[in-house]
Amino acid sequence: MTNSKEIAQGKIGIFDSGYGGLTVMRSIVDALPQYDYLYLGDNARAPYGNRSFDTVYHYTLECVNWLFDQGCDLVILACNTASAKALRQIQQVDLPKRNDHKRVLGVIRPTTEQLGHMTASGVVGVLGTEGTVRSGSYPIELAKFFPEVVVEQEACPMWVYLVEHNQRKGEGTDYFVKQHVDRIFQRNPRIDTLLLACTHYPLLTETIEKFLPEGVKLVSQGGLVAERLADYLGRHPEMEARLRRAGFRSFNTTDDPQTFEKQASVFFGEPIVASHVEIGQH
Ligand code: DGL
Repeated sequence: MTNSKEIAQGKIGIFDSGYGGLTVMRSIVDALPQYDYLYLGDNARAPYGNRSFDTVYHYTLECVNWLFDQGCDLVILACNTASAKALRQIQQVDLPKRNDHKRVLGVIRPTTEQLGHMTASGVVGVLGTEGTVRSGSYPIELAKFFPEVVVEQEACPMWVYLVEHNQRKGEGTDYFVKQHVDRIFQRNPRIDTLLLACTHYPLLTETIEKFLPEGVKLVSQGGLVAERLADYLGRHPEMEARLRRAGFRSFNTTDDPQTFEKQASVFFGEPIVASHVEIGQH
C-alpha cells in the first residue's frame, strides 16, 4: 500500500462516466500540456445518463474523492450528466466540509458562456443524455448569459451505449443518430448551431454530420472547456501555483483496463496504458 503522504500532489483530475471525457482531456492536454493529469472513467457503472439524481451524485462524489486522494487539487467533471446533477451539491455542500483548497469544475458553464456567440439565427440545439436534458441546466445557464437565445433540447438515450460499445458507425448507429437529429430540426428548423452536450457524442461526429441540414455548425465542448480552464487558472493564481508541471499522465478505469486501453487509445489519439481501480459498488 502506498502511503497517501507519498502521493505527488498538484495534479488535474479529469472525470467521466466512461470514455467521453477523453475528448475533453485531449483538448485540455493540447492547450495546457505542461500540467500533470489523472483521468478516471467509471466505465463499470456507465452510462450515468438514465440514472437518478441521487445515484449520479453519489457515484460522482466517490470518484471525485478518489481523485482528490490521488493528489488532484483541481477536478474537472468532463461529463455533462455529472455536471448537471452533482456539481452544485459537491460545490455547495461537500467542498465546504473539507475546508481546503481543492476545487471541482464542470463543463456546462464554460460551454454556455460561449455558445450564444456562435449563433446567427438565435436558435441553438442541445443534444444530451436524458439526465442532462431533464435537468434543464443548458436552458437555465444559457439564459444567464444570452437571454435572447432560444434553446431546443433533444435527449439521445442510445448514443452513449453506442460509443461505450464501440458501435460508432454502421446501419444501426445511423438509425439511432438520424432519429434524434431529424427530431430536433423538425421541432425548430431555425437551429444553426448544434451542441454535442455529452462528452461521448464527439465520437459520433462522422455519423451525425451525415444527417445535418446544410450550414449547421456542430459544436464539441473540448476546445471550449480547455479555453475556459486556461482562463480560470489565470484568474486563480493560488490554484495555478499548486499545479505540478511534470507532464505526468495517468489513465484509470473502474472496469477492465485492457478493454479501456484499446478504446481509449483511439479516442485519445495516442496509445495509453490504463490501470484498474476499485471504487464503490457496481
Ligand atoms: N459523457 C457523459 C456526458 O457528458 C455521458 C453520460 C453517461 O454516462 O450517460 O453526459
